[in-house]
Amino acid sequence: MGTNSRFIATDGWKIVETRFDPGRVRASESLFAIGNGVMGGRANFEESYSGPSLQGNYIGGVYYPDKTRVGWWKNGYPDYFAKVPNAAFWPGVGVRIDGEELDLARVETLEFYRELDMRRGVLRRRARVRMGSGAEVLVEAERFLSLVRRELGAVRYAVTPLDRGARIELRPFVDADVCNADANYDEKFWEHVETVRDAVRMRTAKSGFEAAWAQCARVAGVTLRPETAGERVQECAVVEAGRGERVELVKCVGICSSLNHAPDELIPAARSVAGEGIRAGFGTLLGEQARAWKGKWRGCDVEIEGDAAAQQGIRYCIFMLLQTYTGVDSRLNIGPKGFTGEKYGGVTYWDTEAYCLPFYLATAGAQVARALLVYRYNQLDKAIENAAKLGFRDGAALYPMVTVNGEECHNEWEITFEEIHRNGAVAYAIHNYIRYTGEQEYLARCGLEVLLSIARFWAQRITWSEARGKYVMLGVTGPNEYENNVDNNWYTSYIACWSMRYAAEAARWVRENRPEDYRRICAKRHFDEAAETARWTEIADRMYLGEDPERDIFLQQDGYLDKEQRLVRDLDPRERPLNRTWSWDRILRSCFIKQADVLQGLYFFGEHFDTGTVRRNFHFYEARTVHESSLSPCVHAILAARLGEMDKAYEMYLRTARLDLDDYNREVEEGLHVTSMAGSWLAVVEGFGGMRMRDGVLDFAPVLPAGWRSLTFRVNYRERLLTVRAEAGRVEVTNEGAPVEIGIDGCRYTVADRAVHMR
Ligand code: BGC
Repeated sequence: MGTNSRFIATDGWKIVETRFDPGRVRASESLFAIGNGVMGGRANFEESYSGPSLQGNYIGGVYYPDKTRVGWWKNGYPDYFAKVPNAAFWPGVGVRIDGEELDLARVETLEFYRELDMRRGVLRRRARVRMGSGAEVLVEAERFLSLVRRELGAVRYAVTPLDRGARIELRPFVDADVCNADANYDEKFWEHVETVRDAVRMRTAKSGFEAAWAQCARVAGVTLRPETAGERVQECAVVEAGRGERVELVKCVGICSSLNHAPDELIPAARSVAGEGIRAGFGTLLGEQARAWKGKWRGCDVEIEGDAAAQQGIRYCIFMLLQTYTGVDSRLNIGPKGFTGEKYGGVTYWDTEAYCLPFYLATAGAQVARALLVYRYNQLDKAIENAAKLGFRDGAALYPMVTVNGEECHNEWEITFEEIHRNGAVAYAIHNYIRYTGEQEYLARCGLEVLLSIARFWAQRITWSEARGKYVMLGVTGPNEYENNVDNNWYTSYIACWSMRYAAEAARWVRENRPEDYRRICAKRHFDEAAETARWTEIADRMYLGEDPERDIFLQQDGYLDKEQRLVRDLDPRERPLNRTWSWDRILRSCFIKQADVLQGLYFFGEHFDTGTVRRNFHFYEARTVHESSLSPCVHAILAARLGEMDKAYEMYLRTARLDLDDYNREVEEGLHVTSMAGSWLAVVEGFGGMRMRDGVLDFAPVLPAGWRSLTFRVNYRERLLTVRAEAGRVEVTNEGAPVEIGIDGCRYTVADRAVHMR
């Protein structure tokens, strides 16, 4: 267990801390982060805090192209890394008690309580403090980013002098004078455009996005005095409060960006959001928020009886994922840290397709998941340009490893140029979407164009090996980034073959079923189906896929077995994580695997392999995997559950579901592992819930860890809300929509309202 285990109390619906520890402020800022799918931020205190802290507020889709910084430039590197800029600090409330600044780093904290209410989407905090003057004061703060009014942030902040009367000054503020901690050249990402009494407007340098923040604040019976100056909007209320008299401030901030408004309309728009919020009142806004969250939870809650830590862990993951992405705008995506930190730039990785898509598909529905596919569809031409920059031609597409607008941002050669398996994940996501929704139609609208462009890339990326009489895939990096420039990475080659075959099938389907779209696509993409698909099939049939006959396993890549074969269990725990204690050279030469690689393929394509094959590969590779990517344990949890190896499945599950809550990797202060949280959901629903598409039907084959009395989860399947409840000897599926065919342990049921399956 990591550093948080003492701190975060176990509660099914809340994340709670009951002590103030200055050494933990940054970690808790990540853990208690809030968001509404279009923006979000870290749980920085509203009032000043002079201790170590990472301030962070982010607006989805707004980015700054931070000029690339590398030790040695290589042709083909992108010029910039897109980073979501740290934006104005909107929840600010400065507090002075008898002239003395309230700053938890400087006063004595007598009591402290903070909770993230996941049921309602609200962050609350209460602190009883003794000021330098000796005055005792109670501070209560509540805030949220509205799910309903997507451009609104609201704060209720109250101060009560407890042992004597006091002069209380409250200064609600928005501070746009902020910078990024991870700027490559210490540049400021925002330039000032204008400030008016109640609002400030800023523009990102180079990329030219604009955003405005307008503040509207109220303190009952008090007129607030404007103090706005520079890039800071501020007002001041002064109250002579008697002992025990609660002084309450409510503030609403409208946060609008040029993604949705013309620049000149930003301030008026933000003002109207803030004004309407204040007129509605904090209670009404809170009620809306609670109702909206209730609606979300109805479609996706997971209940685990008999394991409070696992229950809290999975709700936390679901909550953070829903705070990060709601599918309302296909220009947005899911950064590995969501809106909780600057690491990874807040931009898009293969994590979206490989891990997040199935979560949104089954919890938020087809439309939300489709927005993620459309994001890549809209970036197809950029992916073709990206491939062209690397020397590919004729409409071959290479999706970037890291992107915000379709252009590649990553600049480590072994990843940028070699970690090409990401292209396969983009294709796989289309297949995953269609098999779950049954919406083949998507191929005609967008899917085929993406698939054929990806297939073209693979067809150019392979090499014919005279020596082997096979096609080979040279110089790649698999998901296991602890080895680079390898030949014939099994996962990459396998997904490449699968993508080419799937593209050929997709082309046939569109030709046969949507002839008009077919003609349009052929003309637009200069597609010669007969010649191109023949070539793809020939390559897929003759691709070299390494195997070790002795162990009867797939070979992660050429030469893997030449390495000294050591096992993770023989490593000295003090050496782990390896990426902090070993030289990079030593890591590259060792057999230790960063994250699921061959096993990622066995997870994606489970139906292609028999159980014995999965088991042999699982035992071999699991013993050598150090799980130094948070994306890894969930894949191992799912495979272990499928194999009935429940102790291993549970061990892997806890590592993923409570990774941040228990701070296993001692890095939670940088932000949360949001995309791996989708993996935690996969581990519960696809692992323990055994949910899988089999022959066109959604099937459940639950297997519960020893301590779980029951597991209940909800999924949205083809416009129906299904509730699956598994307990010893019994699985029940209820359906709130039109009758639907499902499977339980492979037995078919047409469920009108309920199916009970006894085991
Ligand atoms: C992993 C990648 C992942 C990235 C962002 C890396 O550590 O190896 O697979 O895409 O983190 O989550």
